Amino acid sequence: MRDCADVLMDGLEQLEYRGYDSAGIAVFEKGVIRTVKTRGKLKCMAEKLADEGKPEGFCGIGHTRWATHGEPSDINSHPHSNGRVTIVHNGIIENYAELKEFLTEKGYSFVSRTDSEIVACLLDYYYAERDPLRAIMETVRELRGSYALGILFKDFPDRVYATRKGSPLIVGIGGSEYFIASDIPAFLKYTKNYALLDDDEIVAIDNSGVRFFDIHGIAVKKQTQTADWNIEQAQKCGFPHYMLKEIYEQPEVVVKTLDSIVTDGVPDFSDIGLTDELMRDVKRVFVVACGTAMYAGIVGRYAVEKMARVPVTVEIASEFRYMDPIVGEDDLVILVSQSGETADTIASLELAKSRGAKTLAVVNVKYSAIARNSDMYIHTLAGPEIAVASTKAYSVQIAVLYLIAFRFAYARGIILENEMRRLTAQLYKAPEAIRDVIENKDECQFIASQLVNVETLFFIGRGFDYALSLEGSLKLKEITYIHSEAYAAGELKHGTISLIERNIPVITVATQRNVLAKTVSNMEEVKARGATIIAICRKGTEFAEGTVDIKLELNIGGELDDMLLPLPTVCALQLIAYYTSVLRGIDPDKPRNLAKSVTTE
Ligand code: F6R
Repeated sequence: MRDCADVLMDGLEQLEYRGYDSAGIAVFEKGVIRTVKTRGKLKCMAEKLADEGKPEGFCGIGHTRWATHGEPSDINSHPHSNGRVTIVHNGIIENYAELKEFLTEKGYSFVSRTDSEIVACLLDYYYAERDPLRAIMETVRELRGSYALGILFKDFPDRVYATRKGSPLIVGIGGSEYFIASDIPAFLKYTKNYALLDDDEIVAIDNSGVRFFDIHGIAVKKQTQTADWNIEQAQKCGFPHYMLKEIYEQPEVVVKTLDSIVTDGVPDFSDIGLTDELMRDVKRVFVVACGTAMYAGIVGRYAVEKMARVPVTVEIASEFRYMDPIVGEDDLVILVSQSGETADTIASLELAKSRGAKTLAVVNVKYSAIARNSDMYIHTLAGPEIAVASTKAYSVQIAVLYLIAFRFAYARGIILENEMRRLTAQLYKAPEAIRDVIENKDECQFIASQLVNVETLFFIGRGFDYALSLEGSLKLKEITYIHSEAYAAGELKHGTISLIERNIPVITVATQRNVLAKTVSNMEEVKARGATIIAICRKGTEFAEGTVDIKLELNIGGELDDMLLPLPTVCALQLIAYYTSVLRGIDPDKPRNLAKSVTTE
């Protein structure tokens, strides 16, 4: 049997990309639970294990914590124990204050400042009859919020229980070994087979095997699924960082995603229920998402509105869920998400469903909550995205949104099948253009060398170029810590231009020919105030002498429709952010303060 502490440490390392500030494990060692935990990264854990001795055993739980309630500290790190129960918890217990009051009255005291410790106490409280399953069932009935829990009861050595609601948790099923994890890479080297838990289902794992129970404690059978991810996809494979590897993967994953949707040269969504009738009858489209996925939604909005003449609103999920949106039966709500576990996007999905809207998920993780709970689901095939900053997931998201735009336009009688076919064929040319940007990465490296010491910069663009500016700016700030803002080029002079002074870089995305002249005027305006202009444009775009300081020309042979240029252009922006980060001595894969999956509000 494998050494549990090693498996736990390795699994936590595989999930390091999700972001954390402390770590810990608890293992049954000769029938007794031994816990080792510490503030800091896994290397601090490894040092502590070396100092204190690694717990020896075959059954245990581990967790990397991203602080929400209580600062990062040894005490607040997981696992938490109280009474006879030790747990790890991913998520947020919203009613923890009232539970704490209840438990205090019952005589419990607490050592940490976390909401998670409350769960350990509550489990202990309901463990009065020494029935772990009952204790878990009673406990989850009381919890509000989100949780994925790994649980050890000290009276049941070498047995792990787990349950979840709102937070991801999957059960890896090997020959005679089992794993619980938030994501597949944690156990991919041991098995590709896994089972999913529905909300409040419980799993028990021990020497006799794995058993699943529903919320009432009735045994349930689970289907085993097989991951289509392989271990190489979850490893760096010679690249210095996951982010660079993932940028390089873009041509391939875009084609893979297109292939999964395109049949006989045209996009076909009928198998998921996104029929031409539905597209014809829909009155409005909402794209709801967060961060980069939301910026992909903005590209999608421009494409769908341009092609299909149907109104599209892009909403930030954390706003949408609380703004009492005017959304109903005639509307299609598209939820875009890499992880499929983003708390605000999940809540927006539930809200849209409750209002009777049709919901469509564009999600990269097929076992995620958003993929499972929406009416229709398109699986983007980026494969595991490990770097915190999203790159390849964005590209496959916009590729899918283009295909939706083409089909929408056809379904609504705006374009004929031939045109839909032509556009689809065009989209298949985009990966070549992305490849070309990657081959010419030196130019992005040069731009990065000019940005490495700046304190602030701006991105500007119009239309699709504005959507890209937003994404380019986010990418840059999240992994370089340089302050950056993106503006619609025409909006700059309504206030922000007062910030432009000598040598402030303004990265101008200028690929869209229909607004090029207007964008050029905006470049002139900032140039006149001393800005350094970095222009990203189609090959052969001419600017007046002295306007542009650095020009990055995209070699797309004039073939690609302007509408599709975000695919190669974003690659250039990603590379600029990546190289700037590296030059500044930052690890682009794990920028400070960020978590890969934002499973809390
Ligand atoms: C930025 C980034 C985030 C995510 C956002 C939504 O590089 O990765 O802005 O895009 O947190 O996450 P998902 O797509 O998992 O819903």
